[in-house]
Amino acid sequence: MRDTGSTPWWQGGIIYQIYPRSFQDSTGSGMGDLNGIRRRLPHVARLGVDAIWISPIYPSPMKDGGYDITDYTGIEPLFGTIDDFTALVEDAHAAGLKVLLDFVPAHSSDQHPWFLDSRSARDAERRDWYIWRDAASDGGPPNNWISEFGGPAWTWDDATGQYYLNIYAREQPALNWRNPAVAEAMLDAMRVWYERGVDGFRVDAVEHLTPDDRLRDNPANPDWTFEQGPARSLFRTFSSHQHDGFPMVTRMRALAEEHGGRLLVGEAYGTLDEVMLYYGTDLDGFQLPFNFELISAPWNPRHIADFIDRYERMIPEGGWPNWVLGNHDRSRIASRVGAEQARGAQMLLLTLRGTPTMWQGDELGMTDEPVPDHMLQDPWAINNPGTGLGRDPVRIPIPWEDAAPGRGFTTGEPFLPLSSALSAAAQEDDPASMLSLVRALIALRRAEPALSLGTYERVRSDDGVLAFAREADRKRLVVALNFTPEERPLPVMGAALLSTIPQRDLGAVETLLPNEGVILAA
Ligand code: GLC
Repeated sequence: MRDTGSTPWWQGGIIYQIYPRSFQDSTGSGMGDLNGIRRRLPHVARLGVDAIWISPIYPSPMKDGGYDITDYTGIEPLFGTIDDFTALVEDAHAAGLKVLLDFVPAHSSDQHPWFLDSRSARDAERRDWYIWRDAASDGGPPNNWISEFGGPAWTWDDATGQYYLNIYAREQPALNWRNPAVAEAMLDAMRVWYERGVDGFRVDAVEHLTPDDRLRDNPANPDWTFEQGPARSLFRTFSSHQHDGFPMVTRMRALAEEHGGRLLVGEAYGTLDEVMLYYGTDLDGFQLPFNFELISAPWNPRHIADFIDRYERMIPEGGWPNWVLGNHDRSRIASRVGAEQARGAQMLLLTLRGTPTMWQGDELGMTDEPVPDHMLQDPWAINNPGTGLGRDPVRIPIPWEDAAPGRGFTTGEPFLPLSSALSAAAQEDDPASMLSLVRALIALRRAEPALSLGTYERVRSDDGVLAFAREADRKRLVVALNFTPEERPLPVMGAALLSTIPQRDLGAVETLLPNEGVILAA
């Protein structure tokens, strides 16, 4: 939804995540770039979304796919130049798309000049810009925290004889936000991008902004299983969601407001109680603290319906919900629930109350693809060989064309393998394709305010079917989703407006077919 006066654009809007390395290559480097994104803006605009969020495009040694930054206000040469960026913002705005950048405040690259200075000597000017501690009495790390990518969250620095904290890869030293100079420098970087015309940020890993200053040990998680990754063997009681981080979020928001109300979407994995804290005590935090339930939850209608109720109840008065079905960190929805359920999942994402964030390629029904060892990029995979952990399978390039070498993604050697199965071109004019379904869903959402800004009401949920109503301007639509491979009765009668089943005769919808989702006027 475009600006309508009192309702901010992002409440009725849809956000589309672009992972620049995998989107479109324009130079033959084998990796995507800014001019590639420009070239594919018509695809994004034709979907009918309102904003793109671009994963990091800043100068980076790429130890964590660009989430390891050496200059917060520059552009990585692999991705292009500042002029390319300016042109991208202009093109996106001309196509009616807002532009959100990824802002990565919790850590820099170990090659950032700030860190190079910090590690140069104990009395270096910027020593205190990062978190340095003496070894424990046994010479080991200062506490038991585990890095998100495996191994201790502490790296020993021989030259200065101390450990530094790295919550993620060792090439991502944690910035010390308790140092006011760090907070100032980071807010300054945000300012620069606002002045360059960005419409907001997705703020990365914000739960780690201010780890416990007493560095207390994290308690063990008795229910841990290996697939959760090594870091989850401990609860993150002291390493994340600490109270003195919230005022930093409030400062980011104040800056966004000073610039005419730019959007801040916050990434903070946690319990619902923890996520709610990021709305701020007076709605002065993030407008949209990410809600990751649909990428972590079991695919079960009763569970999802109960979660929706709990989430809706907990959102502070005046706060706005949001939903995420996929991102560059989690297994793709079509791999998690299968191709048929993935169609219903798109219907769910695009009809729930709240701002949806779509993950590039899910509109084509892409699946995770195996990545051979010699092509691995993700530090999580590289640090845990042979375990199957890692995020490269969800980050393979978009297969734009069928026949073209490099599938229209690149004229060079792709940095990750290409999809074996599908292409955007083949889906373009096929009314049965996932792409056509997603476009139709978004078009209906735009045409029916009930589906974007309307109220939410639970209609039915059992082990097979989830049904809910959305209502605005006395128009009531019911969304009914069959989570089973068997036929199920329709929970309410009404005129069908859209089905996830291709070529369905909408005049004859009397039951829910296997795996079917329908939207009814009821
Ligand atoms: C976030 C990003 C992830 C990255 C991590 C460290 O969780 O989504 O891709 O590895 O932060 O920046």
